[in-house]
Amino acid sequence: MKRNTFMQLMAFSAVTSLFLTNAVMAEAPDKARIMADACQTCHGPNGVGSGKIPELKGLEKSDITESLLGFRSGDEKSTIMGRYVKALSDDEINMLAEYFAGLDK
Ligand code: HEC
Repeated sequence: MKRNTFMQLMAFSAVTSLFLTNAVMAEAPDKARIMADACQTCHGPNGVGSGKIPELKGLEKSDITESLLGFRSGDEKSTIMGRYVKALSDDEINMLAEYFAGLDK
């Protein structure tokens, strides 16, 4: 009886700590992926653009950051991106740039 309870406790804490570690480690990449999903509606899966929408694939992180900051400030003319990027913080722009720059490398 006592042994059983101990084993249950051990199993429970093992599962809990596994869960917590996963949650902490997965947070940043998950956020980038979720946000990037929205970009891929236009820029295509894996950042390969279609038609008039430019490709994100193959761009350097600094190119992407510069474009997004330019769209946000209005220095770089845009039809769509300016409105879109206004909602993003510097951190989020940085995170997205890193995500797209890291595709297929
Ligand atoms: C509604 C469609 C749409 C969505 C959603 C969208 N984009 Fe764009 N993106 C465009 C278009 C169109 C352009 C060309 C500039 C313009 O006219 O706005 C562009 C241009 C860009 C450029 C400049 C590329 C270059 O080579 O000059 C970058 C970088 C970019 N988008 C990143 C993103 C990121 C990151 C997201 C997600 C936060 C995103 N876009 C979401 C349509 C979209």
